[in-house]
Amino acid sequence: RKDLLDIASLTNEEIEFVLANAVPFKDLFKRSVKKVPTLKGQTVLTLFYEPSTRTRSSFEVAANRLSADVTHFDIESSSVVKGESVLDTVETLESMRVDYIVVRHKQSGIPSLIAKNTRASVINAGDGWHAHPTQALLDAFTLREKFKDLRGARALIVGDIQHSRVARSTSLIFRRLGMNVAYLAPGSIMPRETPEDVKLFGNWTDALDWKPDVVYLLRVQSERMDEPFFPSAAEYHKNYGLTDARVEILKERGLWLMHPGPVNRGVEITDRGMNYEKSLINQQVENGIAVRMSVLYWLKPGAV
Ligand code: CP
Repeated sequence: RKDLLDIASLTNEEIEFVLANAVPFKDLFKRSVKKVPTLKGQTVLTLFYEPSTRTRSSFEVAANRLSADVTHFDIESSSVVKGESVLDTVETLESMRVDYIVVRHKQSGIPSLIAKNTRASVINAGDGWHAHPTQALLDAFTLREKFKDLRGARALIVGDIQHSRVARSTSLIFRRLGMNVAYLAPGSIMPRETPEDVKLFGNWTDALDWKPDVVYLLRVQSERMDEPFFPSAAEYHKNYGLTDARVEILKERGLWLMHPGPVNRGVEITDRGMNYEKSLINQQVENGIAVRMSVLYWLKPGAV
């Protein structure tokens, strides 16, 4: 395979390959091996048209640990601000013979368009509402460290499902691995069309009665909304956020907690929630490096 564009186009064998190979990459850090020569001579370019803290730095650390040469394309100081199109930018980069392009864009489908117009392997680092496949892979990897076999486990995804590429990709990989998935959101940010096998809830009481094993919180993505979706952040917090009282319920029931980041404290989560004993949020970030190393290795020509 040349590109990683979404979870839907992956076979179960490919998902297993990436997850399985992330294990030895993670073991390297445990043994304090900081660098391996796997991608020596390869060039990885990160092309982020939208902001990122975790994904971009995680790819850069992953590529560095594989001994690739890593270049960040700085949109703000590039000719993109003079109006250069995505495809003209990619044609220019193509002439520089980069081997991988890791791209994030606010418009769904841009990574796929780039992939059709370059010999480089294109990895989608998040496109619009569509997909965030490496987030999904690292989420599955993180949960598999806890459950070993995910079949039959239950994940409750809470928050702004409508605008979330993470919800789409992570929900799909969880279901492909045999998990049961439910969404909890206000009607205004619940998509009109949801997968048939996903249960829908409108309040925490019903959602917790479903007996989830893990609660996966999402940020409210106001930047993707034309109008405010809810009366106020405080009102959202009261009705749909992980309040301190709800953290205590999670604690009593021993539920795991996940969030892709960035978080908005006081909206979908509290300080107490961020310090919750069974939070996997930091493990998600840590595992992102091993999983992205595995993705880069998987896409290396002739590696598999
Ligand atoms: N989870 C995630 O994609 O975070 P960033 O936006 O910081 O990359």
